[in-house]
Amino acid sequence: GHGYPGELKATLIGEDQLQAKIVELAAAVAADHELDSPPLLICVLKGAVTFTTDFARAMPIPSELEFMAVSSYGSATSSSGVVRILKDLDRDITGRRVVIVEDIIDSGLTLSWLQKNLATRSPAAIDVVALLRKPEALKVDVDVRYVGFDIPTEFVVGYGLDYNERYRDLPFVGLLGAHMYS
Ligand code: PRP
Ligand code: MN
Ligand code: MG
Repeated sequence: GHGYPGELKATLIGEDQLQAKIVELAAAVAADHELDSPPLLICVLKGAVTFTTDFARAMPIPSELEFMAVSSYGSATSSSGVVRILKDLDRDITGRRVVIVEDIIDSGLTLSWLQKNLATRSPAAIDVVALLRKPEALKVDVDVRYVGFDIPTEFVVGYGLDYNERYRDLPFVGLLGAHMYS
């Protein structure tokens, strides 16, 4: 059992299912980068940290790693659309092929903002790999090449995803019980 008894409604995506999909995604991204220099993975803190570390280790080619911390949700359960940079990249990405690594695309506002922001820094290419996407929650059109799972518009936590900073440590993706946020 996990450390949050009675707080989750169900498991949405179990550990094995997550890890199998990550191996697939890593192979797909690597195949498209084989002839190039190592892709620069941009982990979008904090939610993407778990996915990024598993993803990088599942890739059959070398990659490099950078972190960017942005926040759009604050402590609300739905996106405000206001994106703040909490921590910027440490390096110049001019001429690099970058891969934005996200845990989830919900409204798409964070990613849309990030793609525009990074595009101004003249990278050779920007790809996106997202573990989860809520197709029915999208508010903006975002171009995402690699997606792990399309999921229903429900509040999901675990595997990096939080509610008020909790549940990030769960090794699976679960549905938060309605009594925990309403
Ligand atoms: C969450 C999630 C994505 C973003 C998706 O991050 O990790 O980055 O929201 O939502 P959107 O598509 O509606 O913009 P959050 O802002 O909660 O910060 P965190 O990663 O630190 O939890
Ligand atoms: Mn995030
Ligand atoms: Mg969050």
